[in-house]
Amino acid sequence: MHLKSNIPTIHTMKKILLYLFVLISCSTTAQTTIYLPQPLPMKSSKMTLMQALSQRHSVREYTEKSISDQTLSTLLWAACGINRPKEKRITAPSAINGQDITVYVCRQNGAYRYDALSNILVKVSTEDLRSHVAGGQAFAKQAPICLVLVSDASKVRFQNELSAMDAGFVSENICLACTALKLATVPRATMDKDSLHKALGLTETQHPILNNPIGWPKE
Ligand SMILES: Cc1cc2nc3c(=O)[nH]c(=O)nc-3n(C[C@H](O)[C@H](O)[C@H](O)COP(=O)(O)O)c2cc1C
Repeated sequence: MHLKSNIPTIHTMKKILLYLFVLISCSTTAQTTIYLPQPLPMKSSKMTLMQALSQRHSVREYTEKSISDQTLSTLLWAACGINRPKEKRITAPSAINGQDITVYVCRQNGAYRYDALSNILVKVSTEDLRSHVAGGQAFAKQAPICLVLVSDASKVRFQNELSAMDAGFVSENICLACTALKLATVPRATMDKDSLHKALGLTETQHPILNNPIGWPKE
């Protein structure tokens, strides 16, 4: 009589390995990519632009309350998201349409690169980098979210003033969007640029220019 062996065949082993591989790759993708909810610029605020301009001011104290991914999505869209999908143009003007500014989101559970076209956050670090963003100003690391505006100088022909101006536009968009969403922020040049450059995994042509710590204002 032929007894069936309990030892798995090479074919079965291959199948198990393939299954494990798919399982591991899926869980890694889930950890490294956050699919943001659709931004809701029209539904998020009834404030007019003129009201936002009247009320905008710098705030350096925040509560510990977290910011939802829905609010973050709308905020990032306002910063430099796609507002003309056919032409892939963005909310902020940019010199020679270089679109050199990329926004990085630093929060307690890691740091992420905002990919405006796909409306996703791509994890670039598992560390809390807010103290690197704070530099010498401790208040900034209390903000639940710090947005770091990084310019790729190669996209604006290595003209540093263009990088600075483009970052200024994105930061002002963030300031006005925060006002409209009742969030508090301040544009900042202070930060530990060298350590951020390393921790965010930036290339030689990428440079952190400005940052905006963001949180809910204290009463
Ligand atoms: C380019 C730029 C860099 C700034 N850097 C810092 C900074 O490093 N730290 C800070 O606390 N505020 C910083 N600020 C905020 C200014 O101090 C603030 O805008 C100014 O005091 C006017 O106040 P207001 O924004 O309430 O009108 C910066 C502002 C700009 C435009």
